[in-house]
Amino acid sequence: MTDSATAQHEQLDPSASAYNTWVLRLYDFWVLTVSNLFAWRCPTKSSLLPFFTKHLGGDAHLDIGVGTGFYPATAAPKLAKTKTLALMDLNPGTLAYAEARVRAAGYQGTIERVHRSVFDPLPESMRGRFDSVSLFYLFHCLPGSFPTKASHVLASVTPALAPGGVVYGATILGRAAPHNWFGRKLIEVYNRKGIFGNESDTKENLEKALRAAFEEVTIEQIGVVVLFSAQKPISARP
Ligand SMILES: C[S@@+](CC[C@H](N)C(=O)[O-])C[C@H]1O[C@@H](n2cnc3c(N)ncnc32)[C@H](O)[C@@H]1O
Repeated sequence: MTDSATAQHEQLDPSASAYNTWVLRLYDFWVLTVSNLFAWRCPTKSSLLPFFTKHLGGDAHLDIGVGTGFYPATAAPKLAKTKTLALMDLNPGTLAYAEARVRAAGYQGTIERVHRSVFDPLPESMRGRFDSVSLFYLFHCLPGSFPTKASHVLASVTPALAPGGVVYGATILGRAAPHNWFGRKLIEVYNRKGIFGNESDTKENLEKALRAAFEEVTIEQIGVVVLFSAQKPISARP
């Protein structure tokens, strides 16, 4: 994607442009502490962070939709033997913020910044290299509905996987999930502003997209958040 195309894309897409410096400064408190505990009922420290670190490892990891870089920075000790960490996002501000945070946390390997949309096909140089690819709190930000938007994203990111690699992540479900009052309000406001695009997202339709693309899928729900992992891309079958 060219710089002007990227700028246009960000203008069109509040799912990425929303994350300015002020929002990033508040993000960990508001999203990872308050919202995850009280609105989504999926605690960061006891549920999401352990799920993030569980699949990390190997020579190279790709984190897509980086936000503040909380997960790779907090998991930096586990990443010590991982030679390359690629950070991919449509917003250049989040990329710079996350990279600085991961470095400050002591990660010594190579950090690659990839400034592009997850909907766009990956460059040739990223294909077949990554042992793990994380998509944390990305799907619910993207416009569109499951299974289509997930199938589109999986088609873009799957070529990045090394043999035996895993794609995994977490996403907040839409209106049909058992939201509490706080969660319903946030879903309504964020969807109206275009920060979220998850009104019709269901676990079943995400699972459809995952099972259409991978032989091995795990999917579990904690509160109104779905945690998923997928391995063995179906197109790679002989
Ligand atoms: C809710 S934040 C998630 C941050 C972090 N992964 C977490 O779980 O706390 C969503 C991130 O996705 C990025 N994003 C939104 N739309 C995107 C797109 N089409 N392609 C790549 N990144 C995108 C935003 O810029 C933001 O950094």
